[in-house]
Amino acid sequence: MSVLKAENITKIYGDKRGGLKVKALDKFSINIEKGEFVGVMGPSGSGKSTLLNILATIDSPNSGELFINGVNPTSLNEKESALFRRRELGFIFQDFNLLDTLCIKENIILPLVLDKLKVKDIEKRVEDIASLLNIKDILEKRPYETSGGQQQRAACARALIHNPSIILADEPTGNLDSKASQDVMESLTHLNTEKNATIMMVTHDPFAASFCHRIIMIKDGKYFLEIVRGGTRQAFFKEIVNSLTLLGGKYNDIA
Ligand SMILES: Nc1ncnc2c1ncn2[C@@H]1O[C@H](COP(=O)(O)OP(=O)(O)O)[C@@H](O)[C@H]1O
Ligand SMILES: [Mg+2]
Repeated sequence: MSVLKAENITKIYGDKRGGLKVKALDKFSINIEKGEFVGVMGPSGSGKSTLLNILATIDSPNSGELFINGVNPTSLNEKESALFRRRELGFIFQDFNLLDTLCIKENIILPLVLDKLKVKDIEKRVEDIASLLNIKDILEKRPYETSGGQQQRAACARALIHNPSIILADEPTGNLDSKASQDVMESLTHLNTEKNATIMMVTHDPFAASFCHRIIMIKDGKYFLEIVRGGTRQAFFKEIVNSLTLLGGKYNDIA
């Protein structure tokens, strides 16, 4: 079943005032099936953030079609769109985006509280997801009392707790050291394998990308190539590094 389908998405910036036009996405298509864990990689300026904003229904394309769980979000009004985003999507950001005035548990349940779920059901879901992601002992702490890796795992829990159709992750390991990155990527893998979460992740990091089932590479707003993991994660990592060489662009900043 297709959870996310984008067809021939074109996004041109600076189109309105007639200034310098930038074609950030050029007939880009992507299809993600239920339960997939897909990575998107591309050099700086290739259109990754533009793509995420469009898939997140925060921005709209100049042309092309988007379906999330069979619904075309551009057909919704503002109020419907906000509700759609909250129900159907889960987000993970580079800088965690947890509220420091709430404890970790309150942060995680935020998407459920807005939906007025019963306290008993909420407790059960937190318990379940916190043990899966190994963050049970920090639930009562404030974000600033925990490590970056713990905060990002809490953000992973928050992204899934309302069972969205798809989780969109933007450089989830961008602010983490290698050990914390590994913990977070293992957490995402658990959500994918244990909870059948569908995940699309934008990343610069070949190590993080090696946890995905397949990687779509984007260049100058266009589809460039796709690689699918066949064997071990280590072999896939090598294949990703080789493909990034083909892709060119600014990748030196990550080594
Ligand atoms: N709001 C904007 N207005 C004008 N141009 C933009 C805007 N956002 C991005 N761009 C341009 O669109 C292209 C793609 O940018 P972006 O999607 O941010 O790439 P990436 O996330 O892969 O680095 C770049 O050329 C960038 O300069
Ligand atoms: Mg970007």
